[in-house]
Amino acid sequence: MDLDSAKLNAARAVFEEVGRYEVIGVGTGSTVEKFIELLSKQERFKGKLYVPSSIDTALKLSERGFRVLNLLSSPEVEVYVDGADEVDPRLNMIKGGGAAMTMEKILAYYAARRLFIVDYTKLVAKLGEKHPIPVEVLPCALSPVLKTLHKMGFRVELRASGRGKAGPVVADTGGVVIDVYTGPLDEPEEVNRRLKNIPGVVETGLFLGYADAVYIGWPDKVEVLKPSTVIKV
Ligand code: 5RP
Repeated sequence: MDLDSAKLNAARAVFEEVGRYEVIGVGTGSTVEKFIELLSKQERFKGKLYVPSSIDTALKLSERGFRVLNLLSSPEVEVYVDGADEVDPRLNMIKGGGAAMTMEKILAYYAARRLFIVDYTKLVAKLGEKHPIPVEVLPCALSPVLKTLHKMGFRVELRASGRGKAGPVVADTGGVVIDVYTGPLDEPEEVNRRLKNIPGVVETGLFLGYADAVYIGWPDKVEVLKPSTVIKV
């Protein structure tokens, strides 16, 4: 319940800034769902254009009557709003808990402004402390990619899909999702480079230098962190 109100506080806080823009990229996850819920309660957000990062978000937006575009048809995404699984003191992040990191990274890269909304449990001293790094892999390259990661010394798990499909999670962008357990990372840039160098890897959930601001929701307050802000965890 505490967590719910922390997520809602972050979503509510980002809301005012987002109101200035007309083309809004929308991430995926439970915090983003709260943001969409808030959007749907205000008439002024109905006329804007939305570019979703996943089928799930596209459905949530269109069910509520919002106009949904994709990157092929949309003009520039003016602002992108998304959640995250871990945020470090430099505002680097792990994302991909919802297996949408490839599209999320594309949208975040091309958006003019990138805002992230998280609850306080997402703050970590080092990325990899609590979560593995999600990695999307082309299905045809899965076995060699897994072998390569094992040789590099990583523990890797195929992310299992839930009820309704046997086998691994397949992302909306077509790749199989695997989770790479690294433990706390001293040099996330180096790990990201090594992962992205493996042929067959489509994208990783390491978002390094992608946040213009992170709204941290607590049960009773919100902190807004910019890349220059030093935070203690
Ligand atoms: C989806 C994501 C989500 O933004 C991330 O998993 C956080 O989700 P939640 O807001 O439910 O905690 O990266 O791919």
